[in-house]
Order: sequence, then C-alpha cells, then structure tokens
Amino acid sequence: MKTKLLLGILVVSSIISCTTDKKEKLNKIDGITEVENDVVKNTSKGYELMKQKCFICHFEKPDPSRKDQMLAPPFLRVQEHYKPTYPKKEDFIVSVMSIINNPSVDKTLMPGAVKKFNLMPKLVYDQKELRLIAETLYDMDYGNSPKMKMKLNLRLNNGKKWKLSKNSIGQINEIVTNLNNFEATDISSYNKLGKDIFDEAKMIMLDESYTGELWEQIHAFFNGIENNMHSLISTKSIDQAKGEVTILKTKFDQFYDYFE
Ligand code: HEC
Repeated sequence: MKTKLLLGILVVSSIISCTTDKKEKLNKIDGITEVENDVVKNTSKGYELMKQKCFICHFEKPDPSRKDQMLAPPFLRVQEHYKPTYPKKEDFIVSVMSIINNPSVDKTLMPGAVKKFNLMPKLVYDQKELRLIAETLYDMDYGNSPKMKMKLNLRLNNGKKWKLSKNSIGQINEIVTNLNNFEATDISSYNKLGKDIFDEAKMIMLDESYTGELWEQIHAFFNGIENNMHSLISTKSIDQAKGEVTILKTKFDQFYDYFE
C-alpha cells in the first residue's frame, strides 16, 4: 500500500516537473517570458483582419482609462453575450456574420449596447474574411480579465419605485405569465421560452423614452438576468433549463419591488 502511494507521488511529481520543464523550454524558444497582457497573442490571419476592420470601433477589452473613446462594446463583452447563446463554434460564426451583415434590433443580443452606442453601422465585408474574423472572435481567450462590468445594484428612487410606461409593465406581466404558465417537457419549448422572454425584455431595454438613472436601473435589472436568458435560449439540458426558469421566476418577482 505504502509503496504504491510512494510510487504514485513519484510519478505525479515527475510529470509536474516534466511539464514545467517543457513550458520553460517553450518559453525560451518563443522568447516569451510572460504574457504581458492577458489577451493571448494571436498572429492568425483572422486576428490581423480583425485589427484592420474592427478595432477602429471595438476595443478588445474594457479599458476604463479610455472609456470616453469607446464607440462600441469591447469584444470581450461581445463574446460574453454570443458564446453562451451559441456555444457551438459554427452556430456562433453564422450568427455573428449574420448580425454584422445586417445589424438589426430584431436580432441583437446586446440591446444595452445598441441603446448606448446606437446600432452598428452596416458595413460590407468580404464574406471569407468575415468568417475568419468571426472564428477568431470565438477562439479569442481574453483571459481572466478583472470583471470590470460594474455590478450594478438595483435601488429605489428616493424610497419610491421607478415608474415605467404601461407598455413596459404589460411586457413584464406577459413575461411573468409566460414563466408561470409554462408547462412543457421538451427542450425546444424551453429554448423558445427563453427567446420569447429575451425579445420582450429587449423591447423594454431599447425603449427610447428611458434615460438617465431610470435607464441605468432598467439596465441593472436585465444585466442581472442576461446570462439566465441566454442559457435558457441555448441549453440542451432540461435540468439546466428548469433551473434557469426557477431563477428567472424569482428575479422577475423582484422586478415589482423596484418598478411599477
Ligand atoms: C464603425 C464602427 C464599428 C465597426 C467598424 C465595427 N463595429 Fe461592431 N459594433 C459597433 C457598435 C456601435 C455596436 C453596438 C451596437 C450593436 O450591437 O449594434 C457593435 C456591435 C457588434 C456586435 C454585437 C451585435 C449585437 O447587437 O448583437 C458584434 C458581434 C460586432 N459588433 C462585431 C464586429 C466585428 C467582427 C467587426 C469587424 C468586422 C465590427 N463589429 C466592426 C460598431 C462597429
């Protein structure tokens, strides 16, 4: 027993030392000491194209020091929205290409960005190049960037609830009814429920009449459930879908504590 354990430790430690050795060697060969920023260096054709065609407007990662130069959401954020909804690479590529070829409020996954920056202008790209760019966007490893996404906290309006239009409240009521009456056992119905909720939510987030503090609060609420909606749209697991529905029900209940 003891010898086996010892042997095990020996094997494991030699594997560890071997891999660190290899890493060091590789680093020496590449001349890389440390990755300077945590965006992995990328020398692919797709990345080159991305630099030329997209970085005029998009940063790779949020950069607070250049906040006022931001014209579009950083790609890290774009990836955060698209990957959970389209976990498969090909689906991701197709949907990214499609929204770039035809930016539209109907198809956006980033209503917050549309509201903040206006819709991405329609630009014509070579489709092969665009595919390479979309592929790169999927593959990019933006590292464990410090979450700069402000965790916006919901708060009341001087102790009172925020007032929304009748229309918006109607849309929320519809979402809540949808959630509460939902009875299905197949995953595609769950995915559709996610899509329906997201589409309604989008209408509220894109409503032109909400500005300033009120808009921030609406944004804060939907930010908090964005991942749940995206994963409900795309999950293939019934258990996960059920989990998301439960969370969404709870969160939408809280909506009425802050808005009326
Ligand atoms: C002229 C400025 C500009 C350029 C150039 C540009 N974008 Fe955008 N992009 C925007 C803005 C503004 C938004 C946010 C509004 C929106 O989502 O439509 C955006 C949003 C996006 C989104 C999210 C779309 C959504 O709403 O779901 C994707 C994906 C995207 N850009 C990819 C790209 C890629 C890839 C390139 C390069 C091929 C590129 N963009 C070039 C301005 C630009």
